[in-house]
Amino acid sequence: MRIISPSLLSADFRNIKNDIYTVENAGAKRLHLDVMDGHFVPNLTFGPMIIKSIRKLTKCHLETHLMIEKPHESLKQYIEAGSDTIIFHYEASNNCKRDLKLIRDNNINAGIAISPDTDENLLSSLLDYLDYILIMSVYPGKGGQTFISKTLKKMNNIVSMRGKRKITIGVDGGVNLQTISTIFATNIDIAIVGSELFKSPNIIKRYKELMIA
Ligand code: DX5
Ligand code: ZN
Repeated sequence: MRIISPSLLSADFRNIKNDIYTVENAGAKRLHLDVMDGHFVPNLTFGPMIIKSIRKLTKCHLETHLMIEKPHESLKQYIEAGSDTIIFHYEASNNCKRDLKLIRDNNINAGIAISPDTDENLLSSLLDYLDYILIMSVYPGKGGQTFISKTLKKMNNIVSMRGKRKITIGVDGGVNLQTISTIFATNIDIAIVGSELFKSPNIIKRYKELMIA
């Protein structure tokens, strides 16, 4: 069965509790949290304080996607906020091994995100330190962008690089009813879905459509 991780970036923050319960009712077991710092990407979203509150609202697996510069400077705060997986960008860290180790040492799954133009082969020396790879299928920074098809090749390549290792592979950006089946055909594990889900007039119905589209 497909795994969908709803991205709260496109949810209604006036009543975030309601949107979280809606996707839980639809069957979601994970939630994707997009942290943007206004530097690594131009937009600014939320930080550890909001994640702490979301943690209290749900038992879902929380995957926190840090789109921030120098992640090592604030990893501790995100570790304390209570995510189950913490993902930082390959492009933003000056020592990926050190940062992955710090996350793992705190019993949190450690992940790296790679932007569409980053060569995935750069991850090969990090595979033993990784629990999660997030393949960006749009340029990080905002929801509702068009899926970049050349990233399908990256998905195939990363799936074969993983081999028999226990690494979860997620795909983030532009996942919708038209693109989801091609994405899962590459054998990745999780699709992150933001606008296609939360901007739909019926979130539960849309979640079910995405599971079979
Ligand atoms: C983009 C974010 C995504 C975003 C995806 O920088 O990392 O998680 O929410 O949004 P959609 O599904 O609308 O492309
Ligand atoms: Zn994301």
